[in-house]
Amino acid sequence: MIIYKTNDEVELMRKSALLVSKTLTEVAKILRPGITTFSIDKLIGEFVKDHHAIPSFLNYKGYPFNSCTSVNDVVVHGFPNKQELKEGDIVSVDIGVILNGWHGDHAYTFAVGEQKDEVLQLIKVTKESLYKGIEKAVEGNRIGDIAFAIQEHTEKKHGYGVVRELVGHGLGRSMHEDPQMPNYGKRGSGSKLKEGLVLAIEPMINLGKKDVYTEDDGWTVRTLDHKPSVHFEHDVWVRKTKADILSDYSIIEAAEKANKNLMIAS
Ligand code: MF3
Ligand code: CO
Repeated sequence: MIIYKTNDEVELMRKSALLVSKTLTEVAKILRPGITTFSIDKLIGEFVKDHHAIPSFLNYKGYPFNSCTSVNDVVVHGFPNKQELKEGDIVSVDIGVILNGWHGDHAYTFAVGEQKDEVLQLIKVTKESLYKGIEKAVEGNRIGDIAFAIQEHTEKKHGYGVVRELVGHGLGRSMHEDPQMPNYGKRGSGSKLKEGLVLAIEPMINLGKKDVYTEDDGWTVRTLDHKPSVHFEHDVWVRKTKADILSDYSIIEAAEKANKNLMIAS
């Protein structure tokens, strides 16, 4: 069942999404070779609680951390750990919060230190694909139109692997609401989009093949070929003529640019 939100409810959700963006901005400021994802996760938990919100991933189906930090061939749901990040690593940082009862859930992939061009290109194209999907998130279109736009840009145009096993989702008073939001599909298929739907759209795109597996910890998802994978996620309000992005990459990108330890594809 899809739960449509009123404009007032969406404004509350915007606050939740923006708190995630602000938290990701704090992460963008401190990322560098030598830092551990465990220390980043700690900072995330403190920042979220300082802002009167709850880190929603913690204890979700037993998940043991505030955030997911997915390095290199980890696609999503990576456990923060005490290994130091090193030059050439990429890390997807995925954060969820509950603020005033409403969920925010979004993610950004950072490139730590010098990178191969092919990895920077994967990051750039995955982010572009998210915006191409968001362009289709308007009333009257269908879920499949968003999915198709993401798949076209990543798989068809660039030959990347689009993960099938994990999908985006509706967002609201719960982290995972209907409908499911795959990153692959047919134009004109799936649920019809109506104003008031809030979607977490989250392409997970592999440099190599699409295949993934889950580790014995029950969470960590890795590429089968161990090539890198990139993940971006925005919280998006479906509207009549143009989608409204509730989360905000501009503040994250400003911090990313100012941090000389982070690389950005040009
Ligand atoms: N963005 C992910 C999702 O929508 C985050 C969930 S991680 C979990 O599924 F730990 F909370 F499961
Ligand atoms: Co999500």
